[in-house]
Amino acid sequence: MTIVSDKNKISQEKKKKHIFLLGYMGSGKSMLGGRLAQILDKDCIDTDDTIEARAGMTITEIFSQVGEAGFRNLEKQFLEELVPHPPSIISTGGGMPCYNEGLGLMKATGILIYLEASIDVLVDRLWQEKHKRPLLSHLNDKATLFEFVNRHLSERQACYQKSDYTVNAHLDADQLIEKLMLIPGVAENTYPGL
Ligand code: S3P
Repeated sequence: MTIVSDKNKISQEKKKKHIFLLGYMGSGKSMLGGRLAQILDKDCIDTDDTIEARAGMTITEIFSQVGEAGFRNLEKQFLEELVPHPPSIISTGGGMPCYNEGLGLMKATGILIYLEASIDVLVDRLWQEKHKRPLLSHLNDKATLFEFVNRHLSERQACYQKSDYTVNAHLDADQLIEKLMLIPGVAENTYPGL
């Protein structure tokens, strides 16, 4: 993880408000977002959960009704709505930063933290729950899932790596929280006046 102690950067980051957790499917954004929000006493917003609740459909149903492009529009709409929302911890869907200028919108309003995981770890985690993810549910064996994740992650890596900070998603939840609390603007995430 890169911790920049430059004063300008810290004061710039204090002006931002949300904390966005980014990363590939299976990197642990939802779990970590919930834990961090509890510790910081902030709202935790899981973009997939909110989009599902609003649509009254699962992500899989949304994909089959309006396609991936329709889902990306819902993500973009929701991200725009988050801009004026009180400072929150936001667990983003894996593709959210990579479409419709999502990354730029997040950068303008928050600190971005990328949960980086290896392909092996992602594949092990995703194999158990690929049925919940329309982009993966048709992949019938682990080798095909591996190939897909390998290619897909390499397409998205450049986007994720534009985050302000990167943490190793292989750490356990307590270790991850410890790392996050060292990031300027996270532990002191009160931002009076915003
Ligand atoms: C997606 C990730 C999913 C969900 C949708 C598409 C993606 O969220 O938004 O299935 O394109 O990476 P998680 O990252 O929470 O699994």
